[in-house]
Amino acid sequence: MESRTIKLNNGIEIDRVGLGFWEVRGAEAEKTLASAVEAGYRRIDTAMYYHNEEDVGAGIRACGIPRKELFVASKIWYTDMCGGRQEETFYKSLEALGLDYIDLYYLHWPLGEVTESWKVLERLYEAGKIRAIGVCNFQPAHLQRLLAKANVCPAVDQIESNPCFQQPQAVAFCQKEGIVPEAWGPLGKGKDLGEPLLLELAAKYEKTPAQIVLRWHLQRGLTVIPKSVHPERQRQNLDVWDFTLEEADMEKMCTLDTGKSKRGYPAEFRFDGGM
Ligand SMILES: NC(=O)c1ccc[n+]([C@@H]2O[C@H](COP(=O)([O-])OP(=O)(O)OC[C@H]3O[C@@H](n4cnc5c(N)ncnc54)[C@H](OP(=O)(O)O)[C@@H]3O)[C@@H](O)[C@H]2O)c1
Repeated sequence: MESRTIKLNNGIEIDRVGLGFWEVRGAEAEKTLASAVEAGYRRIDTAMYYHNEEDVGAGIRACGIPRKELFVASKIWYTDMCGGRQEETFYKSLEALGLDYIDLYYLHWPLGEVTESWKVLERLYEAGKIRAIGVCNFQPAHLQRLLAKANVCPAVDQIESNPCFQQPQAVAFCQKEGIVPEAWGPLGKGKDLGEPLLLELAAKYEKTPAQIVLRWHLQRGLTVIPKSVHPERQRQNLDVWDFTLEEADMEKMCTLDTGKSKRGYPAEFRFDGGM
């Protein structure tokens, strides 16, 4: 049977589908978390930048699932990745979430003092405050530079990936290095779900376009963290294990790639790793 979890390079097993919390704040975060755990989610993705760690923390305490059964991820924003602020920032996240450890903590962008920030994450990891450390938005050039200095290899690289912006090179590089590639914005924010090919495949497999997209990610070996505040969509996005896209359909999906992101990136960010 196909596994719904994947083992990270430090041996920790994580769910291949988690729930994203971008733009989910206040009472909606608590409600979203409650319906998500009811649907079966145990993996939660937030960040200091989302300004909802306190709300997510309240949701965690209210949801009735023991802490150790949840897998909670957060991230340090790049403007805090300098000036010796990294450790203090981590503890602020921990406090806001109301937790005494974080399961997966990421550098949010390859910007700021990357190597120094990674060293701080390594220390917190060695101290048991973080169970796994990862990066977001690192292209191969950024990873190469980090790997040359790191003692601990990132467990996960969370990158933008969706049918219209697939990032095959970044995915392949991660897989070669034993880093789990994870898709943020896996549904392209829901904006491209009306693509004719997705509608065609949805009809063929009797699934929704969102399920086709998530299934495609999983078959490429990525983990996914689709966001939805709607219980029905949350259930739908988890219900992707009872069908397999044929190889020819996986290949057809490649035709949707424009190679261009439609999302906003920090102005300082360079895809080629240049500063
Ligand atoms: N590391 C980074 O730099 C970074 C950047 C961006 C995001 N992220 C993380 O990745 C997560 C996911 O990305 P995202 O939230 O930007 O975009 P996404 O997951 O691709 O799309 C979310 C959008 O799709 C809609 N949706 C969800 N399920 C659907 C379904 N089954 N059918 C139709 N529409 C559906 C949602 O609406 P409803 O909520 O109304 O259902 C929402 O508008 C974020 O929440 C965040 O945790 C990380």
